[in-house]
Amino acid sequence: MRLFVATHNPHKLREIREILPGAEVIADDPSGAAETAPDFSGNALIKVRAIAGRHRGDWCLADDSGLEVRALGGEPGVRSARYAGEPTNTPANNALLLRNLEGVADRRANFTCAIALVDPAGEEHVVTGRCFGRIAEAPSGSEGFGYDPLFVPDGHDRSFAELSPAEKNAISHRGRALAAAREVVEGLQAGT
Ligand code: IMP
Repeated sequence: MRLFVATHNPHKLREIREILPGAEVIADDPSGAAETAPDFSGNALIKVRAIAGRHRGDWCLADDSGLEVRALGGEPGVRSARYAGEPTNTPANNALLLRNLEGVADRRANFTCAIALVDPAGEEHVVTGRCFGRIAEAPSGSEGFGYDPLFVPDGHDRSFAELSPAEKNAISHRGRALAAAREVVEGLQAGT
């Protein structure tokens, strides 16, 4: 099957290809689609709708994801990519997060990923995945992207950036959301 993915983030594309190895994954640029929804699902729908009209008869997918920190009332949330301002600056985002958590004992946080799918008949589907953990006192590791060096998933003492890609995919918010997306795809294909 062909799957058009509304992203220009090479890290996300790699993770999607690793988790959906049977699909021919093709990137399409949703630029121009302003992510103005108040939640991840709404933004994923905005992005997938921006490309779906170009690919009728094929599957389309968009993901929207971010980090929610309990002691910060769910921030950075939907603003994760631009927490420290635009354009996206990962070192500045991570530094701001550590600064905002200085002296804070409750470091609980979770990543959330919403995936919006448009199937070949034009029907929309939304699934989500979460990964719970905590924010470390300092960054560690060099794998992954974004807040990975600061996020230690529950049951681990290493950050996402210290895990191999396969280890991260097995437990990550995106891995879980993509597993749910795969069920949607397989369920629909089984019914046709
Ligand atoms: P999006 O591209 O609008 O979904 O923004 C996602 C932002 O959330 C990224 O720029 C990162 O800051 C953060 N993020 C989402 N998923 C991950 C992840 O797997 N690791 C680290 N940061 C992530």
